[in-house]
Amino acid sequence: MALAAVKMALIALAFALAFSSHSAHWAEARAFYVFGDSLVDSGNNNYLVTTARADTPPYGIDSASHAPTGRFSNGRNIPDIISEQMGSEPTLPYLSPELTGPKLLVGANFASAGIGILNDTGIQFLNIIRIYKQLQYFNQYQQRVRRLIGPVGTRELVNQALVLITLGGNDFVNNYYLVPYSARSRQFALPDYVRYLISEYYKILERLYELGARRVLVTGTGPLGCVPAEIAQRGRNGQCAQELQRAAALFNPQLVEMIKEVNRRIGSDVFVAVNAYQMHMDFITDPRQYGFVTSKVACCGQGPYNGIGLCTFLSNLCPNRDVYAFWDAFHPTERANRLVVQQILSGSMDYMHPMNLSTILELDAART
Ligand SMILES: *[C@@H]1O[C@H](CO)[C@@H](O)[C@H](O)[C@H]1NC(C)=O
Ligand SMILES: *[C@@H]1O[C@H](CO)[C@@H](O)[C@H](O)[C@H]1NC(C)=O
Repeated sequence: MALAAVKMALIALAFALAFSSHSAHWAEARAFYVFGDSLVDSGNNNYLVTTARADTPPYGIDSASHAPTGRFSNGRNIPDIISEQMGSEPTLPYLSPELTGPKLLVGANFASAGIGILNDTGIQFLNIIRIYKQLQYFNQYQQRVRRLIGPVGTRELVNQALVLITLGGNDFVNNYYLVPYSARSRQFALPDYVRYLISEYYKILERLYELGARRVLVTGTGPLGCVPAEIAQRGRNGQCAQELQRAAALFNPQLVEMIKEVNRRIGSDVFVAVNAYQMHMDFITDPRQYGFVTSKVACCGQGPYNGIGLCTFLSNLCPNRDVYAFWDAFHPTERANRLVVQQILSGSMDYMHPMNLSTILELDAART
C-alpha cells in the first residue's frame, strides 16, 4: 500500500515536472507553422523529385552560409523574418531530417513551391506537396509531438501557435494562365474561376481550424502582373500585365470577405487577412522611395527585365541585392520581404485586417 502511494506520488511529480518544463518552453517562444507555395517554402522541395527547387547558386547568396537553402530568395524569406521578429529560430522544413525532438516544438514549415489552392495546380512540377498533403503532414506532426509532450500539451502548443498560409498565385500563373486555352480557362470565365478558388480556399481554412490552428495569417496574392516574368512576357512597354492584375484585383477582395465570413461563423478573429497586394504595390509603384533602383528588373535572370527563364549560375546577377525588389522572375529579395513583414507587424487596417501582428502578439501575451 505505502509503496503504491509513493509510486503514485512519484508519477504525479514526474507529470508536474514535465508540464512545468514545457510551459517554460512556450513562454520562450510560441510555435510557428507555415503552409503554402514558393513564397514561403523554406526547403521542402529539396527532398522531393521536382523541378520546382531553389537548390543551386546563386539562390541563398546572402544567407548565413552563402549557399542555396531551398528558399526562393537571395536570403531570408517572409517566414524567416517573422520568426526573427518573434525571437525564434527559423522553422525547419517538415521533410528535413533535423526536425526531431525539441526542434518540433519550434514549429514546422510544410510549404512546397509550385502548389496552389487546387489539386491540379502545378502538376507540371510533378512531385510537390499539395495543400491537402501539407494539412495531412500537420496532423502527422501533431502525432509526433504527442509522443513528446502528451495530448494536452500538444493541443495547447498548436492552439497557441502562429500560423501563416500563402496560396493562390500559382492557381493563376501555373494553372489558369499557364498556357493559352488551359483546361481551367476553358472551363471557367475569370470571375467564376475566382469564386471557385475562394470556395475551395474556404474548405482549406476550415480544415486548418479543425486541426487546431487559432491564429492564422492568410496572405492574398501579390500583384501577379507586376513580377519581372509577366512584365517581360505579357506587359506592354514595361507595364504590369493587365490580365494577371485583373485576376489579383478580383481574388484579393473576395478573400478578405471570405475570411470575415469564416471568423463570423467561428465567432472569433482566428483568420487575419494580409494585404500582400498593397504591401508589394507600395514599393512597385515608387521603388526609389523604398531604396530600390528598380522594381521591374529581377536581380537574377536573363532576357528583358531578367524575367525570362530560371535564375541559375549562368544568369545575370546584380551586385547589390538590397537595391532590387525582385530577386528572380517571380520572387522578392530579402530586403523586399523585410518591407512586407514590417507591414505585417505594424500595418494599418488597410494592410492587416482585422489587426496587425503586433496587436496579435500583445493580445495573446495578455491572455496567457
Ligand atoms: C483535392 O484533394 C483532396 C485530397 O486528396 C480531396 O479531399 C479534395 O476534395 C480535392 N479537391 C478537389 C476540389 O477535388
Ligand atoms: C499596428 O501596430 C502598431 C504597433 O506597431 C499600432 O500602433 C497600430 O495601432 C496597429 N494598427 C492597427 C490597425 O491595429
